[in-house]
Amino acid sequence: MKRILAVNGSPRGERSHSRRLLESFLQACVAEQGEVEVLRREVGRGNLPHVDEAWIAAAFHPQPAQRPAPMQAALALSDELIDELFAADRLVIAAPMYNFAIPSGLKAWVDQIVRIGRTFDFIPDDPQQQYRPLLHGKSALIITSRGDRGYGAGGVNAALNHADVYLRAVLGLIGIERVAVVAVENDEFGGLAFADSYHAAERELAELAANF
Ligand SMILES: Cc1cc2nc3c(=O)[nH]c(=O)nc-3n(C[C@H](O)[C@H](O)[C@H](O)COP(=O)(O)O)c2cc1C
Repeated sequence: MKRILAVNGSPRGERSHSRRLLESFLQACVAEQGEVEVLRREVGRGNLPHVDEAWIAAAFHPQPAQRPAPMQAALALSDELIDELFAADRLVIAAPMYNFAIPSGLKAWVDQIVRIGRTFDFIPDDPQQQYRPLLHGKSALIITSRGDRGYGAGGVNAALNHADVYLRAVLGLIGIERVAVVAVENDEFGGLAFADSYHAAERELAELAANF
């Protein structure tokens, strides 16, 4: 059975385009593929904690197996989120663009799952590969929604895009290198410009669902 981890990064509910597209994509995956198990992780509307000093001290403990109980507790949620990621075959992230980047809840999730010794290793003496990813064989889809337009490669605002581009970089660090991006633009303009973009995203997602 294929397992999909769906991470929802929008603080909006029914009005969120990325959330709506994510949900219909999941439905299409189940309809097309049959045996699919979906696990949802809400990070846009939840209150995932930011990493703090206790978290950092625990994560960078020189002997992870010797971490005292309070340090283990500081990493408990991070462990849970990372376990979810390891258990999944596929990852889908609904990622609105906020201030050219991603919403803080989604960033909090990233900071919890990108962890030395669990999702990547750092080998300072290896000139070939100082950062070694620890996840293997997974692929991801980012469904992003933007108010403005032209954030895709070659677009007028491409240089300002620190959202899906950033997520792709960080997923690569931990070993998820096959990453597709489907974007909706023009939310702030509405009308035909938005409708065209939204329907194009729907079509792209419908095509991806059978083989995701
Ligand atoms: C706090 C905030 C910051 C935003 N920043 C940007 C931005 O930098 N660029 C942009 O194109 N749209 C921006 N937007 C618009 C959102 O990207 C757009 O409304 C998108 O559809 C939100 O995703 P959602 O529909 O899944 O909630 C911003 C919206 C909010 C609420």
